[in-house]
Amino acid sequence: MKRTLVLLSILIFAGLLQLQAAESKFISIRTDQTNLIFKVGDNGRLYQSYLGQALGDASDLAYLPQGIEAYLTHGMEDYFEPAIRILHNDGNPSLLLKYVSHNTRNVEPGVTETSILLKDEVYPVEVTLYFTAFAKENIIKERTEIRHNEKKPVTLYQYASSLLSMQASKYYMTEFSGEWAHEVNMTEQELSFGKKMVDTKLGSRAGMLCSPFFLVSLNDKAKENSGDVLFGTLAWTGNFRFTFEVDNHNKLRILSGINPYASEYTLKPGEVFATPEFIFTYSTEGKGKASRDFHSWARKYQLKDGEGSRMSLLNNWEATYFDFDETKLGNLFKEAKHLGVDMFLLDDGWFGTKYPRNSDKQGLGDWTEIKEKLPNGIGHLVKEANAQGVKFGLWIEPEMVNPKSELFEKHPDWAIHLPNRETYYFRNQLVLDLSNPEVQDYVFGIVDKLMTSYPGIAYFKWDCNSPITNVYSAYLKDKQSHLYIEHVRGLYKVLKRVKDKYPTLPMMLCSGGGARCDYEALKYFTEFWASDNTDGVERIFIQWGFSHFFPSKSIAAHVTSWGKQPLKFRLDVAMMCKLGFDIQLHEMNEKEQILCQDVVKNFKRLQPVILDGDQYRLVSPYESDHAAVMYNAKDKNKAILFTYDIHPRYGEITQPVRLEGLDPAKRYKVEEINLLQDSKPVSAANGKVYSGDYLMKVGLPLLSTRHTTSHVLELTAQ
Ligand code: GLA
Repeated sequence: MKRTLVLLSILIFAGLLQLQAAESKFISIRTDQTNLIFKVGDNGRLYQSYLGQALGDASDLAYLPQGIEAYLTHGMEDYFEPAIRILHNDGNPSLLLKYVSHNTRNVEPGVTETSILLKDEVYPVEVTLYFTAFAKENIIKERTEIRHNEKKPVTLYQYASSLLSMQASKYYMTEFSGEWAHEVNMTEQELSFGKKMVDTKLGSRAGMLCSPFFLVSLNDKAKENSGDVLFGTLAWTGNFRFTFEVDNHNKLRILSGINPYASEYTLKPGEVFATPEFIFTYSTEGKGKASRDFHSWARKYQLKDGEGSRMSLLNNWEATYFDFDETKLGNLFKEAKHLGVDMFLLDDGWFGTKYPRNSDKQGLGDWTEIKEKLPNGIGHLVKEANAQGVKFGLWIEPEMVNPKSELFEKHPDWAIHLPNRETYYFRNQLVLDLSNPEVQDYVFGIVDKLMTSYPGIAYFKWDCNSPITNVYSAYLKDKQSHLYIEHVRGLYKVLKRVKDKYPTLPMMLCSGGGARCDYEALKYFTEFWASDNTDGVERIFIQWGFSHFFPSKSIAAHVTSWGKQPLKFRLDVAMMCKLGFDIQLHEMNEKEQILCQDVVKNFKRLQPVILDGDQYRLVSPYESDHAAVMYNAKDKNKAILFTYDIHPRYGEITQPVRLEGLDPAKRYKVEEINLLQDSKPVSAANGKVYSGDYLMKVGLPLLSTRHTTSHVLELTAQ
């Protein structure tokens, strides 16, 4: 009897051990809704077994297929694009990574980080994969660290942040591409066998032609409220590359990372190569949910002052361009006050002593006031603006230099440009070499000096108008292929110093419009300038595109005279994001001025809903001649609905706009706002009370066949 008991306990113990071993073969990264599961194969290598809706029962894990190698290496038996390619000291170009260990820790409530260590058994090379999971927001961040202990440096040719694989019958990828003043056009295409790359090699103004984000819809084209979609973005303010490869088993492999183009990296023994973060979400309820998850996550965890409020402003760029002086600015301060905005923002053209910046041809780099234009300097402007009751913000473009500048005369080697060749200029300027620590100090010093001399400066617009051209760094000498990477790392060092010293200073990220917009940069910026194109109709499309990844709070939108639509239309469009103006107020009639004031008041009052609520894209301008977007307060007691008729056809039969995200049981009073004085509410819904149920199932007849008209409705739970 005793012997049987002992035998039984040995058997149970062995069974438990086996179970443990089986379980430890799986590594599960989990949010409340998504699972990413890795499996250690019998050969000791790591495979991605699953990515999709969170699995409910851990005992099923054993049934999962093995999948493809998690961080595919070059030189072994898999024929597809590798995540890593490395050349060892002895000339061997292969890598074989085996699982060593993994660890999961709680970073803070609702956030876990899992690290998985992989090693080559023949060469002393280690790769650690890091995954941070945000449970409630359903976001996963992934990054990789590569290190080695060979005698001499190794060369890295490829070094992805992430490799994800997916299994579906069809894949539809949406990219966001365009041009200056024509940003983030969404195009969807089916992926079939082979590769599609979305990448940039523009360096500093990296996203001018395409943005560092994409979405992939499984089985069917992406829809707003249904279907499985993956949203991914690279947090890197430089060259990025996404490779979508469909293999012979119709699996999709998505590689995301720094673009390795012309960027082979020599890694010293003991040094860590840390990739940027790839951030993604997996939604089973279509694009709308994925976007809302990104918005909530960004406000809580990523965007500078993501949970704080935002200042409305009057900018002078389109109102004056380079042609201003103290008197003109003084009048604009008054106009800002009259409008009711919080701040005046002085744009380009205020600096340069030997080469005054009266056009974009000179002066960039010399950050002292132009005496003729501003005899009393910035300090005086700050005081004047404050005396009028508005704050003062300032434009800078600190990473750049015009060759016609004192800075370039003194430090030609600080600018990225090739020796022995004629230099090509983009907007008459060059990019400063931020791989050089002296240049980093100089660039940090621009902000620091301005803030120290004029502590009243309340805001910066930080611009970056040129891509990297004439690619050569005098500082990096024989490491030229490190330039694209070290330049971005240098930029982060500067931005970190600025944030550490001025943690509450709001800053707008700008790059000749929206050519710079990624989540690493947005750690240091409260908002970004989506486009120089401020035409009301164009902005509907541009804001629609950016809204897929970025909350309205982070998107600066100004009312200007660019578009010829009615003023109300342009105001309504700008009010969907962070409202600002760039317009001559005195050119408007009284009624129009009152409308602007009214919209500013409404924006301030409704900021908590528009900037911090949940956004629903209701009617797509891509699919119709109309658009509709709504924002719901988290408690569902208030919602703001924006609708637009763009260029409808004569006789078109329009459909009611069905609302979303309301409480079906609540009753909402509808009021039309942003109306020109004395004009009656156009919407028949004005003043009526509806149930959330009715508004979501039947909707409101708000769309019409009149060109460029718009409505803003405020819904308040009774
Ligand atoms: C870029 C910006 C504009 C403006 C100009 C100034 O084009 O996108 O908003 O600041 O520079 O030169």
